[in-house]
Amino acid sequence: MDYLKIKGKSSLNGTIKISGAKNASLPLIAMTILAKNNVTLKNLPSVADIKTLLKLLSNLGAKCSFHDDKVLVDTSTMNETKATYDIVKTMRASILVLGPILARFGHCEVSLPGGCAIGQRPIDLHLKALEQMGAQIAIKAGYIEARAPQGLKGCEIIFDKITVTGSANIIMAAALAEGETTIINAAREPEVVQLCEVLNKSGVKIEGIGTAVLKIHGTHGKLLNIKEFSIIPDRIEAGTYLCAGAISGSELTLTDVEPKHLGAVIAKLEEMGFRLEISDDTITIFPAKEIKPVKIVTQEYPAFPTDMQAQFMALATQAEGVSIIEERLFENRFMHVSELQRMGADISLNGHTATVNGKTKLSGADVMATDLRASSALVLAALIAEGQTNVHRIYHLDRGYDSLEKKLRAVGVEVQRLKEGL
Ligand code: EPZ
Repeated sequence: MDYLKIKGKSSLNGTIKISGAKNASLPLIAMTILAKNNVTLKNLPSVADIKTLLKLLSNLGAKCSFHDDKVLVDTSTMNETKATYDIVKTMRASILVLGPILARFGHCEVSLPGGCAIGQRPIDLHLKALEQMGAQIAIKAGYIEARAPQGLKGCEIIFDKITVTGSANIIMAAALAEGETTIINAAREPEVVQLCEVLNKSGVKIEGIGTAVLKIHGTHGKLLNIKEFSIIPDRIEAGTYLCAGAISGSELTLTDVEPKHLGAVIAKLEEMGFRLEISDDTITIFPAKEIKPVKIVTQEYPAFPTDMQAQFMALATQAEGVSIIEERLFENRFMHVSELQRMGADISLNGHTATVNGKTKLSGADVMATDLRASSALVLAALIAEGQTNVHRIYHLDRGYDSLEKKLRAVGVEVQRLKEGL
């Protein structure tokens, strides 16, 4: 296993190019199952989760090939409809193949994704919606067995909770269904919007894109001719690097970013005293004279994203005063707290609310990553900590950050990736 050795204190200087969004790439790769043509995806990030999903598609008989920054996926050769435990257990977002495989082949078996460090991660809403569309669903020996021999039928789906991958799954199922599907309380994340836009350009008429009510006109089983597209920038990667600039008191510019997807994050940084200069596809952050404390409540897009909660908690340790951070989406998304406390942070927890007393001096330490965004919070803390920090189990980071240590080193951070035990 690898770990990152980071020398604090670091100041950053220069420009970081933002990669394609992991959470847009995953549903768009699953969407290729709906295509009759060889689909070209551009700007895919080089992260473990993307490689895992492409491997899953290859296991199902699809052909994936890589050309520069393009990936071509040909699912016309798919001859398998079972997503097995060995691969699904490594990435629960594999559940995204359920809707497309069921819609195209009329049957599908997907290993139950199970929970992860941050929570139970149920998929009951995905399954309930597919049943409403006419699927028979059974859970057997840890697998979801879904059948729809007559194909899926469009209907009205009301999601009890806003679910990002649940919305994506049903949008893709509805794309090949017979008739119209209306999804009420759909997720409005930019990653769901891009999925709708690509489908809309590929012959699936979708109304209400970007709103909570989507109307999808299915092709009644006709496969799609999906045009080439480029993945949108990763707003969470961008937010993470903005926090890196903020916590280290640096002037840092991000390029290839979509500021429109970062409204709530930019607003919170400005509330904390940071000045940002924003153009169509760049954001520059400048040091704050004094970092002000903040109140954060995580909610669905366009409100403050749960995927930025850990990073802002690290930043809040450097604010002059008391910050309050409430996590409303996941039941166990404070795993970074104990590691930050070991570096000297003064944080107390009460249920889903964390109280962060700042400003505290952080000291380098051996810390352990527990989940993707918690890991990035530890890297941020290491930038401001006095001395060396070793962040262990960084396979968590590799799931969602493309070339993180290379990007940080290029703006002046002393960071190395080393092998445990060597
Ligand atoms: C997506 O997860 C993201 N992953 C997560 O990003 C992100 O944190 C999350 O959305 C929320 O924004 C991908 O897009 C691959 P949800 P997802 O279904 O779709 C409950 C990262 O760091 N729920 O929107 O799994 C659920 O328990 C990852 O990149 C049900 O109860 O999240 C949660 O409380 C972490 N039943 C809430 O809804 C269901 O059937 C939101 O979950 C589905 C969800």
